[in-house]
Amino acid sequence: MALRNIVKDGDPILRKKCRPVTDFNERLHVLLDDMKDTLIYANGAGLAAPQVGIMRRVAIVSVDEDYFELINPEIIKTEGEETSPEGCLSIPGVCGTVSRPYKVTVKAQDRFGKEFTAKGEGLLARAFCHEIDHLDGILFKDKIIEYYEED
Ligand code: CO
Repeated sequence: MALRNIVKDGDPILRKKCRPVTDFNERLHVLLDDMKDTLIYANGAGLAAPQVGIMRRVAIVSVDEDYFELINPEIIKTEGEETSPEGCLSIPGVCGTVSRPYKVTVKAQDRFGKEFTAKGEGLLARAFCHEIDHLDGILFKDKIIEYYEED
């Protein structure tokens, strides 16, 4: 088990646009495995590579029983809209409502470079959108409609 340090808001790395992955090698697999350990440890719904200091288009999402590794992901279809509370492991203590599509279809590659599509609704769709935003330097706090106070 290898935990990586989670980059916190204020670090310019979170505002950069990530480059596509071109080599689906052992290094990528180690990154994905470390990100999974880090996400489980932090008890989050998703984690993007820039959050562990890697400027590549890699994200993982874990919602209920669903777990996805998304390499070079793109949202190819959206449907509906839902405004719900959201948070981010890079912005501890901040929670606010964000409007996201209710359903999304994502096209991505797996850790071996094989293309696949994944569909999600509700929280899963929200997690896809949140993590893919990270790859373009966008943080959920940019989109907050209403802040929640956390005790
Ligand atoms: Co986040």
